[in-house]
Amino acid sequence: MSAPETTGHEPAHDHAAASRWFSQWHLYRSIIDADWMAHREIFHAVRVWALARYPGPFTLLDLGCGDAGFIKRTFDESGLYAYTGVDVSEAALAQARRELVGARFETRLIVGDMLAFLREGAAQGPRTFDIILASYAIHHLPAREKSDLLRYAHATLSPHGSLLYGDIFRRNRESRDEFLAGYTSMMRQSWTTMAGDALAGAVEHVTQRDIPETVESLTALAHDAGLAGPTELFRDATGFHRLLAFETLRIT
Ligand SMILES: C[S@@+](CC[C@H](N)C(=O)[O-])C[C@H]1O[C@@H](n2cnc3c(N)ncnc32)[C@H](O)[C@@H]1O
Repeated sequence: MSAPETTGHEPAHDHAAASRWFSQWHLYRSIIDADWMAHREIFHAVRVWALARYPGPFTLLDLGCGDAGFIKRTFDESGLYAYTGVDVSEAALAQARRELVGARFETRLIVGDMLAFLREGAAQGPRTFDIILASYAIHHLPAREKSDLLRYAHATLSPHGSLLYGDIFRRNRESRDEFLAGYTSMMRQSWTTMAGDALAGAVEHVTQRDIPETVESLTALAHDAGLAGPTELFRDATGFHRLLAFETLRIT
Protein backbone atom coordinates (compact mmCIF):
# COMPACT_ATOMS: atom_id res chain seq x y z
CA MET A 1 0.00 0.00 0.00
CA SER A 2 1.49 3.36 -0.98
CA ALA A 3 1.71 6.14 1.60
CA PRO A 4 -0.95 8.81 1.15
CA GLU A 5 0.34 11.86 -0.70
CA THR A 6 0.68 14.94 1.45
CA THR A 7 0.35 18.37 -0.04
CA GLY A 8 3.21 20.20 1.60
CA HIS A 9 1.47 22.61 3.94
CA GLU A 10 -1.39 20.60 5.38
CA PRO A 11 -3.02 22.35 8.33
CA ALA A 12 -3.43 20.23 11.46
CA HIS A 13 -6.90 18.74 11.30
CA ASP A 14 -9.45 19.62 13.95
CA HIS A 15 -12.94 18.19 13.32
CA ALA A 16 -14.64 20.69 15.61
CA ALA A 17 -12.89 23.67 14.03
CA ALA A 18 -13.56 22.36 10.52
CA SER A 19 -17.28 22.10 11.14
CA ARG A 20 -17.58 25.30 13.23
CA TRP A 21 -17.88 27.55 10.18
CA PHE A 22 -20.90 25.49 9.09
CA SER A 23 -22.74 26.42 12.29
CA GLN A 24 -23.45 29.66 10.41
CA TRP A 25 -25.50 27.48 8.08
CA HIS A 26 -27.24 30.43 6.33
CA LEU A 27 -23.86 31.52 4.87
CA TYR A 28 -23.16 28.11 3.36
CA ARG A 29 -26.80 27.94 2.23
CA SER A 30 -26.35 31.24 0.34
CA ILE A 31 -23.37 29.70 -1.51
CA ILE A 32 -25.50 26.66 -2.42
CA ASP A 33 -28.46 28.79 -3.52
CA ALA A 34 -26.19 30.83 -5.82
CA ASP A 35 -24.78 27.53 -7.16
CA TRP A 36 -21.22 28.79 -6.71
CA MET A 37 -20.06 25.26 -5.87
CA ALA A 38 -22.17 23.62 -8.61
CA HIS A 39 -24.45 21.69 -6.22
CA ARG A 40 -27.26 21.68 -8.78
CA GLU A 41 -25.13 20.08 -11.47
CA ILE A 42 -23.48 17.67 -9.05
CA PHE A 43 -26.78 16.42 -7.64
CA HIS A 44 -28.25 16.17 -11.15
CA ALA A 45 -25.30 13.91 -12.06
CA VAL A 46 -25.82 11.90 -8.84
CA ARG A 47 -29.46 11.37 -9.85
CA VAL A 48 -28.57 10.29 -13.39
CA TRP A 49 -25.99 7.81 -12.03
CA ALA A 50 -28.37 6.39 -9.40
CA LEU A 51 -31.22 5.90 -11.90
CA ALA A 52 -28.95 4.21 -14.44
CA ARG A 53 -26.96 2.01 -12.02
CA TYR A 54 -29.68 1.17 -9.48
CA PRO A 55 -33.01 0.67 -11.27
CA GLY A 56 -34.21 -1.49 -8.34
CA PRO A 57 -34.41 -0.67 -4.61
CA PHE A 58 -31.19 0.69 -3.13
CA THR A 59 -29.80 2.22 0.08
CA LEU A 60 -27.69 5.34 0.48
CA LEU A 61 -25.35 6.71 3.14
CA ASP A 62 -24.69 10.47 2.99
CA LEU A 63 -21.43 11.43 4.76
CA GLY A 64 -21.37 15.00 6.10
CA CYS A 65 -24.95 15.34 4.84
CA GLY A 66 -25.38 18.90 6.13
CA ASP A 67 -28.99 20.03 5.70
CA ALA A 68 -29.68 17.29 3.11
CA GLY A 69 -31.28 20.03 1.05
CA PHE A 70 -30.96 18.25 -2.31
CA ILE A 71 -31.88 14.75 -1.17
CA LYS A 72 -35.65 14.68 -1.67
CA ARG A 73 -35.59 16.24 -5.12
CA THR A 74 -32.68 14.00 -6.18
CA PHE A 75 -34.13 10.67 -5.04
CA ASP A 76 -37.91 10.91 -4.62
CA GLU A 77 -38.57 9.34 -8.04
CA SER A 78 -35.80 6.75 -7.68
CA GLY A 79 -35.60 3.29 -6.08
CA LEU A 80 -34.04 4.69 -2.90
CA TYR A 81 -35.78 3.04 0.05
CA ALA A 82 -33.50 3.89 2.98
CA TYR A 83 -31.45 7.07 3.42
CA THR A 84 -28.90 7.52 6.24
CA GLY A 85 -27.29 10.92 6.81
CA VAL A 86 -24.37 11.44 9.19
CA ASP A 87 -23.08 14.81 10.33
CA VAL A 88 -21.30 16.25 13.37
CA SER A 89 -23.41 19.39 13.28
CA GLU A 90 -26.65 19.28 15.30
CA ALA A 91 -27.75 22.54 13.64
CA ALA A 92 -27.36 21.07 10.15
CA LEU A 93 -29.24 17.91 11.10
CA ALA A 94 -32.08 19.92 12.64
CA GLN A 95 -32.52 21.55 9.23
CA ALA A 96 -32.09 18.15 7.49
CA ARG A 97 -34.96 16.77 9.57
CA ARG A 98 -37.19 19.56 8.20
CA GLU A 99 -35.96 19.10 4.61
CA LEU A 100 -36.74 15.38 4.65
CA VAL A 101 -40.34 15.66 5.87
CA GLY A 102 -42.58 13.84 3.37
CA ALA A 103 -39.74 11.93 1.69
CA ARG A 104 -40.88 8.74 -0.06
CA PHE A 105 -38.07 6.73 1.53
CA GLU A 106 -37.06 5.84 5.08
CA THR A 107 -34.75 8.41 6.66
CA ARG A 108 -32.24 8.07 9.48
CA LEU A 109 -30.12 11.00 10.67
CA ILE A 110 -27.15 10.38 12.93
CA VAL A 111 -25.16 12.97 14.85
CA GLY A 112 -21.54 11.93 14.86
CA ASP A 113 -18.19 11.65 13.19
CA MET A 114 -18.40 10.00 9.76
CA LEU A 115 -15.09 8.18 10.16
CA ALA A 116 -16.20 6.63 13.45
CA PHE A 117 -19.56 5.70 11.90
CA LEU A 118 -17.87 3.96 8.95
CA ARG A 119 -15.26 2.28 11.14
CA GLU A 120 -17.92 0.79 13.40
CA GLY A 121 -20.00 -0.36 10.39
CA ALA A 122 -16.98 -1.91 8.71
CA ALA A 123 -16.03 -3.74 11.92
CA GLN A 124 -19.54 -5.19 12.24
CA GLY A 125 -19.27 -7.07 8.97
CA PRO A 126 -21.93 -7.24 6.27
CA ARG A 127 -21.79 -4.65 3.51
CA THR A 128 -24.87 -2.54 3.73
CA PHE A 129 -24.98 0.55 1.48
CA ASP A 130 -25.35 0.57 -2.30
CA ILE A 131 -24.31 4.22 -2.60
CA ILE A 132 -22.10 6.24 -0.29
CA LEU A 133 -22.36 9.92 -1.13
CA ALA A 134 -19.72 12.36 0.06
CA SER A 135 -20.58 15.85 -1.16
CA TYR A 136 -18.05 18.49 -0.06
CA ALA A 137 -17.49 16.48 3.10
CA ILE A 138 -13.99 15.01 2.80
CA HIS A 139 -11.70 17.87 1.80
CA HIS A 140 -10.98 18.85 5.41
CA LEU A 141 -9.41 15.50 6.17
CA PRO A 142 -5.65 14.94 5.96
CA ALA A 143 -4.56 12.27 3.47
CA ARG A 144 -4.16 9.63 6.18
CA GLU A 145 -7.79 10.06 7.28
CA LYS A 146 -9.01 10.16 3.69
CA SER A 147 -7.21 6.87 3.19
CA ASP A 148 -8.92 5.34 6.26
CA LEU A 149 -12.27 6.70 5.15
CA LEU A 150 -11.91 5.16 1.67
CA ARG A 151 -10.99 1.76 3.15
CA TYR A 152 -13.95 1.81 5.53
CA ALA A 153 -16.22 3.01 2.70
CA HIS A 154 -15.09 0.09 0.54
CA ALA A 155 -15.82 -2.33 3.40
CA THR A 156 -19.25 -0.77 3.96
CA LEU A 157 -20.41 -0.78 0.31
CA SER A 158 -22.44 -3.58 -1.27
CA PRO A 159 -20.70 -5.67 -3.95
CA HIS A 160 -22.09 -3.40 -6.68
CA GLY A 161 -21.67 -0.26 -4.60
CA SER A 162 -20.68 3.24 -5.66
CA LEU A 163 -18.85 5.93 -3.76
CA LEU A 164 -19.94 9.26 -5.24
CA TYR A 165 -17.29 11.79 -4.32
CA GLY A 166 -18.27 15.38 -5.11
CA ASP A 167 -15.77 17.92 -3.87
CA ILE A 168 -13.16 20.58 -4.56
CA PHE A 169 -9.98 19.44 -6.25
CA ARG A 170 -6.48 20.73 -6.89
CA ARG A 171 -6.00 20.90 -10.67
CA ASN A 172 -3.13 19.56 -12.75
CA ARG A 173 -0.93 18.63 -9.83
CA GLU A 174 -1.04 22.15 -8.38
CA SER A 175 0.23 22.50 -4.80
CA ARG A 176 -2.09 23.41 -1.94
CA ASP A 177 -0.74 26.98 -2.01
CA GLU A 178 -1.38 27.26 -5.76
CA PHE A 179 -4.86 25.84 -5.22
CA LEU A 180 -5.57 28.37 -2.46
CA ALA A 181 -4.39 31.29 -4.61
CA GLY A 182 -6.60 30.16 -7.52
CA TYR A 183 -9.65 29.18 -5.49
CA THR A 184 -9.77 32.28 -3.30
CA SER A 185 -9.23 34.49 -6.37
CA MET A 186 -12.19 32.71 -8.02
CA MET A 187 -14.27 33.28 -4.86
CA ARG A 188 -13.50 37.01 -4.87
CA GLN A 189 -14.33 37.33 -8.58
CA SER A 190 -17.44 35.14 -8.73
CA TRP A 191 -19.12 35.19 -5.32
CA THR A 192 -20.08 38.78 -5.99
CA THR A 193 -23.32 39.06 -4.04
CA MET A 194 -21.80 37.80 -0.79
CA ALA A 195 -21.30 40.54 1.83
CA GLY A 196 -17.66 41.54 2.36
CA ASP A 197 -17.28 40.17 5.88
CA ALA A 198 -19.02 36.91 4.98
CA LEU A 199 -16.75 36.49 1.96
CA ALA A 200 -13.70 37.21 4.12
CA GLY A 201 -14.88 34.54 6.59
CA ALA A 202 -15.38 32.02 3.77
CA VAL A 203 -11.91 32.77 2.35
CA GLU A 204 -10.40 32.34 5.82
CA HIS A 205 -12.21 29.00 6.30
CA VAL A 206 -10.94 27.68 2.95
CA THR A 207 -7.40 28.92 3.64
CA GLN A 208 -7.21 27.41 7.12
CA ARG A 209 -9.11 24.16 6.61
CA ASP A 210 -9.29 22.88 3.05
CA ILE A 211 -6.92 20.10 1.97
CA PRO A 212 -8.20 19.05 -1.47
CA GLU A 213 -6.66 16.20 -3.44
CA THR A 214 -5.86 16.05 -7.13
CA VAL A 215 -7.85 13.46 -9.08
CA GLU A 216 -4.60 11.46 -9.34
CA SER A 217 -3.81 11.50 -5.61
CA LEU A 218 -7.39 10.66 -4.66
CA THR A 219 -7.46 7.84 -7.22
CA ALA A 220 -4.27 6.36 -5.74
CA LEU A 221 -5.84 6.38 -2.27
CA ALA A 222 -9.05 4.85 -3.63
CA HIS A 223 -7.21 2.08 -5.49
CA ASP A 224 -5.23 1.27 -2.35
CA ALA A 225 -8.58 0.98 -0.58
CA GLY A 226 -9.79 -1.55 -3.16
CA LEU A 227 -12.08 0.76 -5.12
CA ALA A 228 -12.16 0.87 -8.94
CA GLY A 229 -12.55 3.92 -11.15
CA PRO A 230 -13.08 6.77 -11.16
CA THR A 231 -15.67 7.74 -13.70
CA GLU A 232 -15.86 11.52 -13.84
CA LEU A 233 -19.57 12.40 -13.75
CA PHE A 234 -19.21 16.18 -13.60
CA ARG A 235 -16.54 18.88 -13.76
CA ASP A 236 -17.33 22.60 -13.82
CA ALA A 237 -15.64 25.22 -15.99
CA THR A 238 -13.16 26.15 -13.23
CA GLY A 239 -12.04 22.52 -12.80
CA PHE A 240 -12.28 22.99 -9.02
CA HIS A 241 -15.66 21.30 -8.53
CA ARG A 242 -16.06 17.70 -9.64
CA LEU A 243 -18.06 14.56 -9.04
CA LEU A 244 -16.27 11.22 -9.32
CA ALA A 245 -17.76 7.74 -9.05
CA PHE A 246 -15.66 4.96 -7.54
CA GLU A 247 -17.05 1.43 -7.58
CA THR A 248 -16.57 -1.79 -5.69
CA LEU A 249 -16.99 -3.67 -8.96
CA ARG A 250 -16.13 -2.15 -12.31
CA ILE A 251 -19.03 -2.50 -14.75
CA THR A 252 -17.92 -1.79 -18.33
C1 LIG B 1 -19.43 21.66 3.12
S1 LIG B 1 -20.63 20.90 4.13
C2 LIG B 1 -21.38 19.80 2.94
C3 LIG B 1 -22.82 19.57 3.22
C4 LIG B 1 -23.55 18.81 2.11
N1 LIG B 1 -23.06 17.44 1.98
C5 LIG B 1 -23.40 19.54 0.79
O1 LIG B 1 -23.06 18.94 -0.21
O2 LIG B 1 -23.66 20.73 0.75
C6 LIG B 1 -19.64 19.78 5.09
C7 LIG B 1 -20.48 19.06 6.13
O3 LIG B 1 -19.67 18.03 6.69
C8 LIG B 1 -19.86 18.04 8.10
N2 LIG B 1 -18.66 17.42 8.70
C9 LIG B 1 -17.39 17.91 8.74
N3 LIG B 1 -16.56 17.04 9.33
C10 LIG B 1 -17.33 15.95 9.66
C11 LIG B 1 -17.05 14.71 10.29
N4 LIG B 1 -15.80 14.38 10.69
N5 LIG B 1 -18.07 13.83 10.47
C12 LIG B 1 -19.32 14.13 10.07
N6 LIG B 1 -19.65 15.30 9.47
C13 LIG B 1 -18.66 16.20 9.26
C14 LIG B 1 -20.07 19.49 8.47
O4 LIG B 1 -20.76 19.63 9.69
C15 LIG B 1 -20.91 19.96 7.27
O5 LIG B 1 -22.28 19.79 7.50
